[in-house]
Order: sequence, then C-alpha cells, then structure tokens
Amino acid sequence: MTTLAWVHSAFLLIHILCVLALVGLLLQQLKKSPRVLHSGIPHIAATALLAGLVMVGIRPALHTQDANKWPDLNNSWVGAKFLVLIIVLVLAYKNVKKTELKKSTWLTIVGLVTLNFLMALFWK
Ligand code: HEM
Repeated sequence: MTTLAWVHSAFLLIHILCVLALVGLLLQQLKKSPRVLHSGIPHIAATALLAGLVMVGIRPALHTQDANKWPDLNNSWVGAKFLVLIIVLVLAYKNVKKTELKKSTWLTIVGLVTLNFLMALFWK
C-alpha cells in the first residue's frame, strides 16, 4: 500500500466516523422535547467536509498511481455531496445556539445527511 493510499484510508476512516457521529447525535434527539442541536454537530460536519475534500484532492495522484484501483471521481457526485453538506453546515451554524430546534429543521438535516449517505453508497 502506498503512502497516499494510507492517507486516503485514514481520511476515509475520519469521514465515516464523522458521518456515524452526525447520525448518532441527530437520532439522539428523535424523542426529545424540546429538540436541540448538539454543539458538536457543526464541527463534526466541517470535519467530514475537510476529510472529503482531502480525499478529492489526492484522488488525481492516486489515479496516476493505479487507474484501475482508483478511478476518477464523478464531478457531479462530488459537487452534489459538497452542496448538500454546505446546506447542512449553514443550518447547523444557524441553529446551534437556539434553545429549541424546530422539528422541520431537524428533519431537513436528517434528510440531507441521509441523502448524502445514499449518494455515497449508490451513486458514484
Ligand atoms: C453528511 C455528508 C456526507 C455523508 C453522509 C457521506 C458519506 C460517505 C460514505 C458513507 C462514504 C464511504 C462510501 C464508500 O467508500 O463506498 C463516503 C466516501 C467519500 N466521501 Fe463522503 N459523505 C458526506 C460528505 C462528503 C463531502 C462533502 C465530500 C466532498 C466534497 C465527500 C467526499 C467523499 C469521498 C471523496 C469519498 C471516498 C470515495 C471513494 O474513495 O470511492 N463526502 N462518504
């Protein structure tokens, strides 16, 4: 395994841990009244974004090393995931200080994270 492939694995692990933490912290509020946004969510979402961007950034070099193992990423896929996470980040930073998180906002954030998850798994 090359150094760059290790870097990719490390950031993929960070990315997936962030996604799991996001889902866990959001679902923790499922039955809460009032719902609040955990103060870690904006940081975790930002870290997931950073890890994703690092993987996107090193991809061309990995592709040059082994084009079969590391096919080029679909730009629309990257763009769509990026846009969805930016919306999550905006909603998270806008709501993190509020004493009550509206059900519609909570559902929107859960829906957007789920959408990115599904795109990650079923569209590349
Ligand atoms: C809440 C938002 C996100 C979720 C739920 C999510 C979910 C995932 C999951 C589950 C994987 C593993 C899929 C696999 O390896 O087959 C993955 C990989 C990846 N994600 Fe994300 N992601 C999110 C945001 C982003 C963003 C914003 C970017 C970059 C702009 C990004 C870039 C990547 C890349 C480059 C990979 C590795 C793909 C590969 O090597 O084949 N992700 N993501």
